[in-house]
Amino acid sequence: MYVLGIETSCDETAAAVVESGERVLSNVVASQMKTHFRYGGVVPELASREHLRAIVPVIRQALEQAGLGYRQLDAIAVTQGPGLVGSLLVGLTFAKGLAASLGLPWIAVNHIEGHIHAVVLEERQQGREVAFPALALVVSGGHTHLFVVERPQPDAYIYRLVGKTRDDAAGEAFDKVAKLLGFGYPGGPLIDRLAPLGDASRVPLPGTRMKGNELDLSFSGLKTAVLRHVRAAGMDEEIAARKQLFAAGPVKDLDAILAVTPQATLDLVAAFQQKVIDELLDRALKAAEDQPVQSIIVSGGVAANSGLRKRFASIPYPVCFPTLALSTDNAAMIAAAGYPRLLRGERSDFSVKAQPSLAL
Ligand code: KG4
Ligand code: ZN
Repeated sequence: MYVLGIETSCDETAAAVVESGERVLSNVVASQMKTHFRYGGVVPELASREHLRAIVPVIRQALEQAGLGYRQLDAIAVTQGPGLVGSLLVGLTFAKGLAASLGLPWIAVNHIEGHIHAVVLEERQQGREVAFPALALVVSGGHTHLFVVERPQPDAYIYRLVGKTRDDAAGEAFDKVAKLLGFGYPGGPLIDRLAPLGDASRVPLPGTRMKGNELDLSFSGLKTAVLRHVRAAGMDEEIAARKQLFAAGPVKDLDAILAVTPQATLDLVAAFQQKVIDELLDRALKAAEDQPVQSIIVSGGVAANSGLRKRFASIPYPVCFPTLALSTDNAAMIAAAGYPRLLRGERSDFSVKAQPSLAL
């Protein structure tokens, strides 16, 4: 079964063709980073406009790379939510139009379910299967959720939310701290690059103790602690220098970045990243102890973090990550999440609406 996946929930226009939920034939992502960079975050109106511009060429490219024509597709899977409503509408409306004109079945998919299925897909591509029940940690710019995922039958998945962030998502914390330090946007990938150059033990930062559900997370206190540290350390000048360096767009040249980044700042970056990973690891391990899981799945943009991958690789559970391309937002994961539903005969109809706060 050839499933065309379409994903436009935030600032990436993506289309992919996945064969039978196990083989990625194409995975095209058009990033809007250049558009949003100078605003230091995603501007919803601009995102919708960019999706409109990109959707047709991105879908054409996905088909071309897969070596398929529209007529060879068997079904369409598209993100329904959560996400920005204007962005979601572009993909959803396009999918409906395509399904109507081609007479194809289609299915609306939850973006978070997509992140989980990125891992199922990746394992199948490697000839393996995720062992269920699994604990899924979805960590991205918009979400930080812990689910217990069960698969009572081969193509039926049940998701039970056991913990989530009460304020910022982990990726959001990375982006906000990077912005505060003058490192441009999005900050996650750069913090990942700089953290190994610092000594985390030189900057003590607080963890969080949660009242109520101890599997919940919170990153606002950590963010405030970084802000306090920045103020106390008098970092205004170096931050201004970095802001100037990053004003024109993303900077790849590490030496140029290090020229305006003292060792003490690298230590702070390392400490921040370590704390985020400590928190995620702590909750994942607690959840895995509470629930009889066979494996842990980590997915979403922050799952691309190399420090996080290293730490999770050392715990006494089988841990599965998607490749980097399947970690951040993409449409192959949407096609993969739609596939078992389509197999079971589930179909969406044209009354389905975009849902910015769709829960899983
Ligand atoms: O999953 P994603 O592409 O979009 C959302 O659904 O949010 O995740 C994007 C987020 C951003 O906050 C970005 O800073 C973060 O993932 N991110 C990273 C890394 N790569 C992307 N955070 C830490 N380390 C990385 N290597
Ligand atoms: Zn995402």
